[in-house]
Amino acid sequence: RTQLRGDQVIVVSNREPYLHEHGEGDTVIVRRPASGLVTAVEPVMRACSGTWIAHGSGGADREVVDRHDRVPLPPGRSDYRLRRVWLTPKEEQGYYYGFANEGMWPLCHVAHVRPVFRESDWEAYRAVNQRFADAVVAEARSDDPVVLVQDYHFALLPAMIRRRLPRATILTFWHIPWPNPESFGICPWREEILQGLLGSTILGFHTRFHGKNFIESVDRYLEARIEHEHSVVSYRGEETFVEAYPISIAWPTPEEEAAKPSPAECRRELGERLGIPSDHRIAVGVDRFDYTKGILERLHAVERLLEKYPQWQGRFTFVQVAAPTRAVLEEYRAFRARIEAVAARINERFGAPGKEVVRLLPQHHEPDDVDRLYRAADVCLVTSLHDGMNLVCKEFVASRDDERGVLVLSRFAGAARELPEALIVNPYHVEEVADAIHRALVMPVAEQRERMANLRSSVREDNVYRWAGRMLTDAARWRLRERVSERV
Ligand code: F6P
Repeated sequence: RTQLRGDQVIVVSNREPYLHEHGEGDTVIVRRPASGLVTAVEPVMRACSGTWIAHGSGGADREVVDRHDRVPLPPGRSDYRLRRVWLTPKEEQGYYYGFANEGMWPLCHVAHVRPVFRESDWEAYRAVNQRFADAVVAEARSDDPVVLVQDYHFALLPAMIRRRLPRATILTFWHIPWPNPESFGICPWREEILQGLLGSTILGFHTRFHGKNFIESVDRYLEARIEHEHSVVSYRGEETFVEAYPISIAWPTPEEEAAKPSPAECRRELGERLGIPSDHRIAVGVDRFDYTKGILERLHAVERLLEKYPQWQGRFTFVQVAAPTRAVLEEYRAFRARIEAVAARINERFGAPGKEVVRLLPQHHEPDDVDRLYRAADVCLVTSLHDGMNLVCKEFVASRDDERGVLVLSRFAGAARELPEALIVNPYHVEEVADAIHRALVMPVAEQRERMANLRSSVREDNVYRWAGRMLTDAARWRLRERVSERV
């Protein structure tokens, strides 16, 4: 960050970092959305101030927000500005639900859900990207701000900003996987999407593999020059540096750690709240209610565990937090109904009223509640069918300062490359996941400690500040290079 001192930083994301809603009387309730992107970017923004531009209708109450000149943030977190772009219901439907979440999301995740491409969604997507470009230009105090564009909602935005602010340094981070060229190629607007992203100075992915897929897609569908050795794409006179920046979380400070209730207290409190007997072992899952997260396969594995290892019947509970998400879409509603039906079936088979094996908590949970759940658990199950990175596994590791607990992690989450001490599984292989849960439940304490200590040192070191620091350092380097070439 020091190398960019004095430069204005503008973040653009769809999801806002805080949701403001009416409380009782004149009060405002501030909540944190369930979003890996917010988890990662918010601490960075707090550290470097600037302006965050986000879509304002994802839960925020416009009346409430508009009543305040300055958007009220929680105490001590008011060091950046939040500007919202308010979308009409039609824009939101086409851009967010339609093209972003029925088109791009299944296109980029290999989860066997077919993408839907509608001309009208694409038009809304393009128009909304343009509105965000206008907002960036309106916020820019100079002709060369540093703009951090986040995610698949804004594939066209980098080139739109580049046209209006040619000297801007644009860092785009793609928070989800990038598919291989064949899969990507089914998108009717593949060229426009690639051209849009190539407006970026730097384009970041979680893993080299996704960056490579992007470069191969460019190679296949555009007339661009590619320097494979340096990961640089030159297109129509502009250069884009494509790099892997594995995202992470903010490691808790010693004060934050000291303020946490002990794992034993967390366990007791959870047991009392959900009526889980004290001799039960507990596994947890924490996800948005999304078909990419492998929640269904996880339930099948829990069921198989109880069949194959009957010693866990009556001694095991699985708690699944499932934050509601994108429920306007039929695919999501059907998915939720399916999960609820399978959970009910398992509970009927292996539980009794009040003694359910599977506890589905389909509500939003604040970060502190989730942290207590992690601390109460014996096992954390992260079985995504495909995930750019996945931050739940890193949050679990960060929460376990007692070095206990076992992480079961999908090989198809970007995080699997960084966390080999987890029990790595193929989430589609029910038997393998069931065996891994059993292995986690019987794992000796010494082995848990050894694995967890290694996991903790990886996440502590490769934290979100390193993620942002590496990107901003690269940005400063490219900026300097460009300024020098301007002078020549
Ligand atoms: O990390 C991927 C991501 O899609 C983010 O872009 C987004 O904020 C998050 O998951 C949650 O999804 P949504 O914002 O659609 O609720």
